[in-house]
Amino acid sequence: MLFSDMKKLRNMIPLALAMASFACLSACNKKDAGSSDNEILIGHYGSLTGATATFGQSAQKGIEMAVDAINESGGVLGKKLKVIVEDDQGKPEEAQTVATKLISKDRVVALLGEIASSNSLAAAPVAQANRIPMISPGSTNPKVTMVGDYIFRVCFIDPFQGLVMAKFATNTLKLKKVAVLRDIKSDYSVGLANFFVENFAKMGGTIVTDISYSQGDKDFTAQLTAIKAKNPDGIFVPGYYTEVGLIALQARKLGITVTLLGGDGWDSSDLWKIGGTALNGCFYSNHYSVDDPNPILQKFVKDYKTRYGKTSDSIPDAMAALGYDAALVLADAMKRANSTRPDSVRDALAQTKGFMGVTGNTTLDSNRNAVKPAVVLEVKVDDKGNGRNVFKETVSP
Ligand code: PHE
Repeated sequence: MLFSDMKKLRNMIPLALAMASFACLSACNKKDAGSSDNEILIGHYGSLTGATATFGQSAQKGIEMAVDAINESGGVLGKKLKVIVEDDQGKPEEAQTVATKLISKDRVVALLGEIASSNSLAAAPVAQANRIPMISPGSTNPKVTMVGDYIFRVCFIDPFQGLVMAKFATNTLKLKKVAVLRDIKSDYSVGLANFFVENFAKMGGTIVTDISYSQGDKDFTAQLTAIKAKNPDGIFVPGYYTEVGLIALQARKLGITVTLLGGDGWDSSDLWKIGGTALNGCFYSNHYSVDDPNPILQKFVKDYKTRYGKTSDSIPDAMAALGYDAALVLADAMKRANSTRPDSVRDALAQTKGFMGVTGNTTLDSNRNAVKPAVVLEVKVDDKGNGRNVFKETVSP
């Protein structure tokens, strides 16, 4: 061999070694990603603490129930599912950090999360870049699944939810002049407010004022005073329960008696505790109603009460139901894929059709969104802060 050839070869060794070890690393990654001989690891990231804590806590309860049910009936592909849970405190930056940790350190094969759209939007690019399927139980902002083809959701989206509430306001409540009070920090709230406004105007209604607050605010007097001056016959508040409860209280204190309307972000037993009787006669759209006689749903409600009734509110909210369904849909996709390889699971998820869960029939469309009916609920709270949601109507897509 010529000296120059030898030199060339020697120069190539580090590169070749690097390539070989990279190939091994990625091959090993693929092979063991999140699974051992007897376990399949999935990640759940959610707000277990913070201002939207009931979202993550409820979703986790639903996921736990589903995973136990799956494991008790033999697991998936002969293995048990194991969920690793991370608290993102309801913050987008944290959601991104913990999703990264679940993927790179724990090597989960799929992610469940988040509920709040802004948190899902922060974590979804990580899942997409790593080609790990992510299923959001409850994020309804359209942008979430647009992040890429590894991102799915098992709930309807806000263009539909906005239409449902605009129809309810116009046809059922006969409202003509509505004020909008939106959370400018939440992608969910801003999106849903826009979809409501668009549809309400199309149906002949007038938006008398459209103002905002920021998540975390405690005093809404300025906004509510401005709204009162416009004399609306309803106020649309598409926010999360902590602020909505305070807004209801402060509105009544200012002598505003008209009905408040909102979306699924109201769904929390903490709403009743914060807002109390100020919420009576208010309405919001949601993913399911505990009054629905569907036997799958009624069994879920009963099992949930048995399991969690002593430690917390025994009525499962929509996040619990959606968390349950998200885990079932994932397990079903793994079974159909006959594999836990993330790319195969992704392909099977995209084919999900007619999966019967607690929140009804889940069929994922070509944009990886579920197409499902919505319900409108009326809030009823007694003076002790005990509440319930009374079913009003179902609206099909
Ligand atoms: N849809 C809300 C969002 O996208 C989250 C949510 C889902 C809240 C279900 C309550 C119930 O941010």
